[in-house]
Amino acid sequence: MTSILTKRIASRVDDIQPFRVVEVLSRAKELESLGHDIVHMQAGEPDFATAEPIVEAGVSALRNGATYYSGASGLWELRKAIAAFYLSDYGVTVDPKRIMITPGASGALLLIAALLVDAGDKILLADPGYPCNRNFMRLVEGEGQLVPVSADDNFQLNAELVSRHWCSDKEGKTVGALVATPANPTGTVISKPELEALHREIDSRGGSLIVDEIYHGLDFRDESGQRSVHSMLEITDDAFVINSFSKYFGMTGWRLGWLVAPPWACPALDKLAQNLFISMSTMAQYAALKCFETPTRAILDQRRDEFKRRCDFLLPALRDLGFIIPQAPEGGLYIYADISQFLDDNNPAGKGFGKNSQEFCLTLLEEHGLAITPGADFGHFQCDKYVRFAFTTSMDRLIVAVDRMRAIFTN
Ligand SMILES: Cc1ncc(COP(=O)(O)O)c(C=O)c1O
Repeated sequence: MTSILTKRIASRVDDIQPFRVVEVLSRAKELESLGHDIVHMQAGEPDFATAEPIVEAGVSALRNGATYYSGASGLWELRKAIAAFYLSDYGVTVDPKRIMITPGASGALLLIAALLVDAGDKILLADPGYPCNRNFMRLVEGEGQLVPVSADDNFQLNAELVSRHWCSDKEGKTVGALVATPANPTGTVISKPELEALHREIDSRGGSLIVDEIYHGLDFRDESGQRSVHSMLEITDDAFVINSFSKYFGMTGWRLGWLVAPPWACPALDKLAQNLFISMSTMAQYAALKCFETPTRAILDQRRDEFKRRCDFLLPALRDLGFIIPQAPEGGLYIYADISQFLDDNNPAGKGFGKNSQEFCLTLLEEHGLAITPGADFGHFQCDKYVRFAFTTSMDRLIVAVDRMRAIFTN
């Protein structure tokens, strides 16, 4: 028998938006089941399966009994391997005690929100940006304070924007800022001097800077192979640095990431992790140890170069078709493109692509079998006139996509 009392869901859930791309995705699946050929450019994960040496290590870890909890901050061997990676790749020494293994970058973001944000506190976020960030803040009764950014700001927060938007009013005070470099959805990078300026500005206000470096490793390189992005760890120990095994390391489904925290925050973070997670997947951590070995790195670097090749193909092709891409990505998996000129409002002839990015994406899917993500998934500022293309499908499929778009937009 059903109770006559109305069951309720906490009001915070009303403030958390679903991904708009889910609508695109489920329709794409439906169309595929009806026999349509869909080019998937919506997925935010590498299309390559996890590299074989990592898979093998995971399988043997399971066979060797890695089926128990492994501590709230993670396997000591893996924390040391990550410290060695910072030394070899960035030339910085990081005490492994400051490194916590987390369930993806998502787990690190949740820990940081729980650590820093009291009810009503605000964390500055770039709009557009990774959508879950504001939801993590809401979950702990805080607020993601969205700061509109555009091509003029390289789609990133900077010291001047932080200073302009920092607030200490009664309704809530700003306690920090979170940036991602390279960013999702734009692929833009924050330069070393700008990272330094951000640190100075936020530090002078007693706030915390969080830098999401999840797309490091997928930063595009020139012939010399030199890294083009800087880690916040090259500048200070007093920032929170997030990374993940999901993107460059190609382990999305294993759910593993990490957080490098300032020494003063580590005991509190460990306490939170004990309660929230108890432990990360132990066998995934043993598998991840393989990520740092030379043969695996060679595979991962080849994949990174393939992403760059795809981007080098797609970027000029989209510009040629009339998409406006003010800022070329410097890394990551995405191109963020302005579609104004295809929207009916700006086009009296009304080509029928829709009034906003959501409608545009659905039209492209329904009529042309192309799945991309509407800008509205990434924030509010001008997002209705942007879409995100993910080059997480093969070159052959990207060629098919461009051919289809050429037929649509140039007729
Ligand atoms: C900027 C950014 N941060 C964090 C995440 C979460 O990644 P994961 O939890 O798989 O490490 C993503 C996923 O797409 C992302 O784009």
